[in-house]
Amino acid sequence: MRIIEAKDIIYEYPDGTKALDNINFQVEKGDIIALLGPNGAGKSTLFLHFNGILEPSQGKIFVDNEELKYDKNSLIKVRQKVGIVFQNPDDQLFAPTVEEDIAFGPLNIGLSQEETKKRVEDSLTKVGMEGYEKKPPHHLSGGQKKRIAIAGILAMNPEVMVLDEPTSGLDPKGASKILKLLYDLNNEGMTIIISTHDVDLVPIYAKKISVINKGKIIKQGTPHEVFDDVETIRSANLRLPRIAHLIEILDKEDHFKIANHYPLTIGEARKDILDHIQ
Ligand SMILES: Nc1ncnc2c1ncn2[C@@H]1O[C@H](COP(=O)(O)OP(=O)(O)OP(=O)(O)O)[C@@H](O)[C@H]1O
Ligand SMILES: [Mg+2]
Repeated sequence: MRIIEAKDIIYEYPDGTKALDNINFQVEKGDIIALLGPNGAGKSTLFLHFNGILEPSQGKIFVDNEELKYDKNSLIKVRQKVGIVFQNPDDQLFAPTVEEDIAFGPLNIGLSQEETKKRVEDSLTKVGMEGYEKKPPHHLSGGQKKRIAIAGILAMNPEVMVLDEPTSGLDPKGASKILKLLYDLNNEGMTIIISTHDVDLVPIYAKKISVINKGKIIKQGTPHEVFDDVETIRSANLRLPRIAHLIEILDKEDHFKIANHYPLTIGEARKDILDHIQ
């Protein structure tokens, strides 16, 4: 079942910048999908359409096959289904303390104090930030703020979680922890949409990738389908994952071919190399 669809979306900012140029993008319920694109490609602009923060200049957004409307009640409804973690946590965090910030959404939709408290605790634990309940968000480091912003959306338990560059600014362990959390949430049924330009991380978690450049979707498919098209990837200022690049060099420069596809993760490369030498 299709949970989000962007149909023929054009978006122009008030200064005339055409940030989205006829985008068609679909997300099936239960997907874990990465939107990959360079700086200025239109990732954040597209994401802000998914729960009606931006209204398209042309085209339509559908959530659960229903056309998105922009009156207050429709927006309240869609924002319970589709939670967005903004690229910049400073755009999201506003309360005097971490716990009040995370509690805001759940209390706002009428959950009890008790249930809210539980959700705050659970989501802080999930992002590895337990113990920071009483801190003012503006006293946190960039990566810590990012985790609190994720916790705030997690506490709403949305059907679809949209995360705009969730790992940028996180240390390697923090980034792995967040990706594992998203992977687990997806296994429990949550639909996850992530934007990134981190080509090394994408193939580890994403089952589908859409590549966006200059406001257009230029490639869609499985990680292998997308990264096999090296030309398109490089034309969009992106690159192969490092491990695939190494295997490409071995193939092209040293005529050492280990497999038909370049492996995209360490795990795949390990298997290909072992298969090759055995
Ligand atoms: N408020 C704004 N007013 C005018 N133009 C804007 C505004 N916000 C973004 N843009 C422009 O729209 C285009 C798409 O920007 P967007 O922020 O969606 O890119 P992005 O893919 O999220 O990039 P990044 O990887 O740097 O976050 C860019 O050309 C940008 O300069
Ligand atoms: Mg962005």
